Amino acid sequence: MTEVVSTVASVRAAADAARVAGGTVGLVPTMGFLHAGHRSLMHAARSECDLVVVSVFVNPMQFGPNEDLDRYPRDLDGDLGACAAEGVDLVFAPGVREVYPEYPPATVVHVEGLTERLCGASRPGHFDGVTTVVAKLFAIIGPCHAYFGEKDAQQLAVVRRMALDLNLPVEVVGCPIVREPDGLALSSRNAYLTATERAVAPGIARSLRAASAAVDGGERDAAVVIGLVRAALDAIHGLDIDYVECVDADTIRPIERLGGEVLLAVAVRLGQTRLIDNVRFRLAP
Ligand code: PAJ
Repeated sequence: MTEVVSTVASVRAAADAARVAGGTVGLVPTMGFLHAGHRSLMHAARSECDLVVVSVFVNPMQFGPNEDLDRYPRDLDGDLGACAAEGVDLVFAPGVREVYPEYPPATVVHVEGLTERLCGASRPGHFDGVTTVVAKLFAIIGPCHAYFGEKDAQQLAVVRRMALDLNLPVEVVGCPIVREPDGLALSSRNAYLTATERAVAPGIARSLRAASAAVDGGERDAAVVIGLVRAALDAIHGLDIDYVECVDADTIRPIERLGGEVLLAVAVRLGQTRLIDNVRFRLAP
């Protein structure tokens, strides 16, 4: 049975009880409107942890003033069904006041360096909102494992670095991107797409596959790889590129020659909707 709680005290009590009994606690932080991407994280948590907690909280702090906080899709009943199907023990679905006794908070967790490029450049303050709420969830629940998707590769790198820098007693686990059969990466924001936009959206993943093929064929010049992605994206009607970048997957620093752990990341706008996708290469240094 999946239990739902909305207070810090009750989720903390449940996690404390699990730990006292010698169990491990796994946390899957989400903003709800759960899909198969989220479910893959729950599945990983269920296979590794005794108590699995999913948080469902649309975090106002990570949305910019002109972003989609007010229209972000919500469906708590559907989310509870997905959590029950994955064998989640506890859903933590708090209100804003419960998470932020004072809003905005005076204390902000800021990860330097990894947050300036890619989504950090086009969404100022976004990652401060993410790291602050994730640090809060870690403090409230005390998970030994926390699960994040590689779909948000920069977020994953930033959260890992926060856990390292703050000596947080949690293992940050990255899980592969889950895609639609046509390649489109699952995202709660896909719900915003019109039928026409949805029809062309798989072109984003296709542009990354074209670049992957070139890298598999030996291409190591980042400018060439980026050029291939840009050319494929430019051919998609109604799509505007926000960024296409090749960076070191751990430091999010730009690279000129591909080597080691490389992240090729894109963000685009299709009409009103901002979509991100990426591919990671594990190459000889
Ligand atoms: P949200 O966008 O709801 O995503 C929750 C988690 O699901 C993130 O770790 C994200 O990377 C993962 N995820 C989303 N789509 C995925 C896909 N197609 N395949 C695999 N994993 C996927 O990311 C957030 O919420 C928030 O920033 C949060 C971390 C909860 C902090 O508020």
